[in-house]
Amino acid sequence: LKLAVLISGGGSNLQALIAATAEPGFPARIVCVASDTDAPGLAHAEAAGIPTCVVRPGDSGSREEWGQLLAAAIQEHGVGTGPEPGLIVSAGLMRILPAGFVREFSPHLINTHPALLPRFPGAHAVRDALAAGAEETGVTVHIIDEGVDTGPVLRQAALRVVAGESEAELHERIKELERPLLVETVREIAAGELELPAPSPA
Ligand code: GRF
Repeated sequence: LKLAVLISGGGSNLQALIAATAEPGFPARIVCVASDTDAPGLAHAEAAGIPTCVVRPGDSGSREEWGQLLAAAIQEHGVGTGPEPGLIVSAGLMRILPAGFVREFSPHLINTHPALLPRFPGAHAVRDALAAGAEETGVTVHIIDEGVDTGPVLRQAALRVVAGESEAELHERIKELERPLLVETVREIAAGELELPAPSPA
């Protein structure tokens, strides 16, 4: 299965995917890594010889246009074209994908989110969980739909919040759960062990 990975940040999830997909027998390989910015994590792809591209929203007239340019950059590598749909993995992309982009690739489009959805959607999930005094939080891998962190849940892993820990500490612990969960979910999808449901009609 061909994977395109979308990132905005340090790319530790990307790094885990690069390591896993390099193992013999892993049923998927990363064909490109795209970002909305000069993400530091792009260096992991470059070091592994994986093509990268940056499509900046600021260079487009609208969000939808940005989505079209991003889609074209991914499709150039054979994801979302031809008989095999491929899979787009949003792993720390800090932008909402526009509706046109989602429709183009749905349901072959997944995201990892650092909370137990439907609790704490949005860009500050770890902070929001702490602020709400949640005793438990975790990570969710889900299909991306047109909402913000609202698509069908595929896999989750939970942990207990430790009294007094900081947002950074909690996020780091979540990411230790997140990396293997994301890798395993991608493996299951690629191996045909986890089916991606067809999107529900609008
Ligand atoms: C992850 O926790 C992801 O869920 C998110 O931001 C973090 C990205 O981490 N929203 P990295 O860039 O993969 O290290």
